[in-house]
Amino acid sequence: MKDFKRYLVTSALPYANGPVHIGHLAGVYVPADIYVRYLRMRGRDVFFVGGSDEHGVPITIKARRQGCTPQDIVDRYHELIKKSFEEFGISFDVYSRTTSKTHYRTASEFFRKLYDEGKFIERESEQYYDEQARQFLADRYIVGTCPKCGAEGAYGDQCEKCGSSLSPEELLNPHSALSGNPPVKRVTKHWYLPLDKYEPWLRKWILEEHKEWKVNVYGQCKSWLDLGLQPRAVSRDLDWGIPVPVDGADGKVLYVWFDAPIGYISNTIEARPDDWELYWKSEDTKMVHFIGKDNIVFHCIMFPSMLKAYGDGFIMPDNVPANEFLNLEGDKISTTRNWAIWLHEYLNDFPGKQDVLRYVLCANAPETKDNDFTWKDFQTRNNSELVAIYGNFVNRAVVLTHKYFNGIVPQDLKPEAVDGALLAQVPGLRDAVADNIEHYRFREALKEAMNLARLGNKYLTDTEPWKVAKTDMDRTASILNVCLKLCADLAVVFAPFLPFSSEKLLGILNLDKDVLRWDNAGRDGVIPAGHVLGKPDLLFEKVEDAEIDRQMARLEAIKEANMKAAAASLPVEAQKAGCTFDDFSRMDIRTATVLEAEKVPKTDKLLKLTVDTGIDKRIIVSGIAQYYSPEQMLGKQICILANLEPRKIRGIESRGMILMARQPDGTMRVVSPEERLADGSTVG
Ligand code: MF3
Ligand code: ZN
Repeated sequence: MKDFKRYLVTSALPYANGPVHIGHLAGVYVPADIYVRYLRMRGRDVFFVGGSDEHGVPITIKARRQGCTPQDIVDRYHELIKKSFEEFGISFDVYSRTTSKTHYRTASEFFRKLYDEGKFIERESEQYYDEQARQFLADRYIVGTCPKCGAEGAYGDQCEKCGSSLSPEELLNPHSALSGNPPVKRVTKHWYLPLDKYEPWLRKWILEEHKEWKVNVYGQCKSWLDLGLQPRAVSRDLDWGIPVPVDGADGKVLYVWFDAPIGYISNTIEARPDDWELYWKSEDTKMVHFIGKDNIVFHCIMFPSMLKAYGDGFIMPDNVPANEFLNLEGDKISTTRNWAIWLHEYLNDFPGKQDVLRYVLCANAPETKDNDFTWKDFQTRNNSELVAIYGNFVNRAVVLTHKYFNGIVPQDLKPEAVDGALLAQVPGLRDAVADNIEHYRFREALKEAMNLARLGNKYLTDTEPWKVAKTDMDRTASILNVCLKLCADLAVVFAPFLPFSSEKLLGILNLDKDVLRWDNAGRDGVIPAGHVLGKPDLLFEKVEDAEIDRQMARLEAIKEANMKAAAASLPVEAQKAGCTFDDFSRMDIRTATVLEAEKVPKTDKLLKLTVDTGIDKRIIVSGIAQYYSPEQMLGKQICILANLEPRKIRGIESRGMILMARQPDGTMRVVSPEERLADGSTVG
């Protein structure tokens, strides 16, 4: 493996159009932070880049909705997001923004160089335009039905339901997000990066040279490449963004996915104007992009192609460890539906418990598949792992030392084989944690760290110093000496994951911050005999049922509010074309009672009903099994269209149709008379 001299670690720049939530933390910022904290503890030269992504349509849409300017929006959320990250200990070396002067200059120059060197294609095409709003409808300004999964409300660049990337032309039934009107087409000119030209190089670089990338990342790249790359527009007709730095490009700005990744460069320049190139243009720098899965194509295909086109020594990422998505209580996290746990709200409810969330999100990180955050799991992991294993071990070791040795680390007066056996395991576990971190397996790494605490607990249970103390203080001294060594090891090994707790533990042990160097784990002499401990304190506290109940109640309330809002906002079906009285009176609608009901075998939707129509007993096959069980239908009085021509459905002759009401959300209910009537009463 290559020996890198320094690391450039980037984490996706979040859109400054809302606060950050647990999904952001779990997918991108916690793993990135663990990685850089670990590298720093190894004494590596690391630069960790973050910042806000402040362009793009979601921001202008939000501004419009709130009746303020896009600048107001990004100013507000940039500060809020930055503060949340600080509070959770995400240890960026720079956290700037894409509206900074440096970024405007850097992104403009980047575009200009590619433009001057003829790296773009200039193309006129017809694009959707809203005549009422007098605006082209880029990306999220156009909404419609997803051609891939049929979901309503898919955007011109992506369907959030199924995750497919889309282009506006693919949307079915497109309409403007501004006016709601169907758009017209208008000719406009844009610049395109011909990704197809870079395809052979990308294939070699990713598919041949980076087979070690995570399966989800490699797989997505492969399917993009196998589908064949197309030129991709790098400009937009919008009034929010970095102006295209070319004459005659009025009203055009850089596409947000062109400018945002350049933000990584700009932010590095801003923080280190003199030696930024060391991090971006040196072959012995290892560049790693931490992102979520919806960002894969931009970081593995688009941005690398931009850098390749630019040349000038820019390096490529060594890895792009993208995570899948985190769900919340079984439902997709959504900013618009307020279905999220916002970091600033979490801290209000659980002050000082940043590490608990960091722990749970890492232990349950969506590394290989989408994963679910539940409050129950949060409580269990806190109470039975952090409190019962790690916290409990440290607490017993420290409290017993205060009790028997006045808080002074006792000498190893009477060693036994078990002590050596325990301590001999530390380097192996430390290295397992390290190896997993270096390979972006953070859940596994955390598990190994917790195993170290488990070992400590088991050792205490086996050696029982509280009993030994009654007869043999020398042996007690040795046991606690070993335990305190392990406490110091735990502070070190957990530090990348739980930085606040490690700091607290150092306080309890009365050790200096500079103990937190990786090779101090398992090293003798970190906490020598005679060293005076600090004050005992609990490392973690139990989370009570009442706290979890409160969070669940909050989510329930949000769910209910969403359901009401959704029902109120759904359009009902338009009125059908006219029909004559004759048309209507030809229909024989009458009441009937369900005598028998059963599922039609091998179908999900069909029920076979035997009904009493007053005139006869007949069979009707109906597609209502999604909404009613056979038991629910039994004995029900319903309305049927009796003279509909008989049809064979799955080999069963169905004579008539059950009248159903289809609600705006598509679900169906049978139409029943308000009171019991004679079967065969005609309706009309
Ligand atoms: N703002 C984008 C998102 O939230 C991420 C941008 S990453 C960058 O999906 F590389 F473009 F900066
Ligand atoms: Zn879809």
